[in-house]
Amino acid sequence: MTSRYRVEYALKTHRRDQFIEWIKGLLAVPFVLYSQPTGVFDGKGFSQAKAQEEAHRRYSEILRDVEFMIDDYIAHQNEDNPMPSKLKLLVPTVGPFFTRLPLEAAFKYQDHKRYISSRRFVSPSFNDIRLILNSAQIMAVTTYGTLQLATFDGDVTLYDDGQSLEPDSPVISRMIDLLRKNVKIGIVTAAGYTIAERYYARLHGLLDAMALSPDLSPAQKQNLIIMGGEANYLFEFSPTSEHLLAHVPRSRWLTPEMNLWDQSDIAALLDVAEAALAECIKNLNLPAVVMRKDRAVGIIPDPPEIRIPRESLEETVLVVQKILELSAVGRSRRVPFCAFNGGRDVFVDIGDKSWGVAVCQRWFGNGGGGGNGKGMIRAENTLHVGDQFLSAGANDFRARSVGTTAWIASPAETVELLDELADLMEKKLS
Ligand code: IMP
Ligand code: MG
Repeated sequence: MTSRYRVEYALKTHRRDQFIEWIKGLLAVPFVLYSQPTGVFDGKGFSQAKAQEEAHRRYSEILRDVEFMIDDYIAHQNEDNPMPSKLKLLVPTVGPFFTRLPLEAAFKYQDHKRYISSRRFVSPSFNDIRLILNSAQIMAVTTYGTLQLATFDGDVTLYDDGQSLEPDSPVISRMIDLLRKNVKIGIVTAAGYTIAERYYARLHGLLDAMALSPDLSPAQKQNLIIMGGEANYLFEFSPTSEHLLAHVPRSRWLTPEMNLWDQSDIAALLDVAEAALAECIKNLNLPAVVMRKDRAVGIIPDPPEIRIPRESLEETVLVVQKILELSAVGRSRRVPFCAFNGGRDVFVDIGDKSWGVAVCQRWFGNGGGGGNGKGMIRAENTLHVGDQFLSAGANDFRARSVGTTAWIASPAETVELLDELADLMEKKLS
């Protein structure tokens, strides 16, 4: 039993999104029953158009049923009903929903783009469903309410892993367009630097474009902030500062809860994490060195160009996470932390993106510049875009508890998502 559990956990659970897998299972049934793979070679009897129409109808019906099940889940959530909804019974790991999700409409949109119903050999996939959920979420955020705050992860979301936002990136004009529409932007990245120069190096394409943009008013230019190290360093766009960014001292933005994070607990947590990481380097013979920072500790490849195997990175995250959870400082829960696999490295950060996004909601909710009032941009008016949404070893996942999210897999997908979003916002305006 133990070994079965360990195999299941280690090989599956942390690498699967249960909600997406469940929808995939529902769509697999009509795929198996109604797709016509033999039509490819016997050419008689089957009409591809008819099969496609039938598959489309059945997939749509299933997604409409799931949509209604989410409505019921939301009703339970809002009533604080102690009894679980049907969806909660079927998918116990499902998290909060801040908006309803128009899944049928989103499916129709994605089917038109991806020809899901026309496929006879490849059933609706994880990526199909991830993109349907993204479309449904941005439809909801723009049509049932108004998007006020968009937060973006950095690596893999805005630029390729470890790279920077260069001036020719197609994502820049889309972000400026959001600012022009008075949407606030937070870049909520794990990359933790204490000085503006380092963030300028990663984001210069966007910052320079904003400084030069004739389309943005001075007030709109105030609507970009960078939340670094998950929730540790805040910078605001500042056209007159060197590197176009001004550091904002913690006293101006820490939430009351964050103010309680004690320096000695932070140090103790990072000490435990550092020892656990060093142990992993030894046990797994990793070509890596430990990097300790003020608010984080990680392992990075050594020499820098070498790739640590994915399995070793995942093992390291799971080991360190467990050791931290079971340590005295971890059990006290006084300081939140986030252990994640960055693709080439592993980091443990103090805080996580739920705090980072919440700081952005407060900053802009109070008119920008004053984190001490009580105003907050609400979860249903916030969208966090990121690439790391698995429940273990992924850092964007935590943002789910404070806002709506879109799960992308590359900077190119971020561009597509922002185009889809712009269309929806323009449709609403007209
Ligand atoms: P994100 O995708 O923007 O959240 O950035 C994650 C990446 O930032 C990690 O994979 C690291 O390569 C890099 N990084 C640099 N400094 C830090 C830090 O202090 N904590 C976590 N990640 C860091
Ligand atoms: Mg990322």
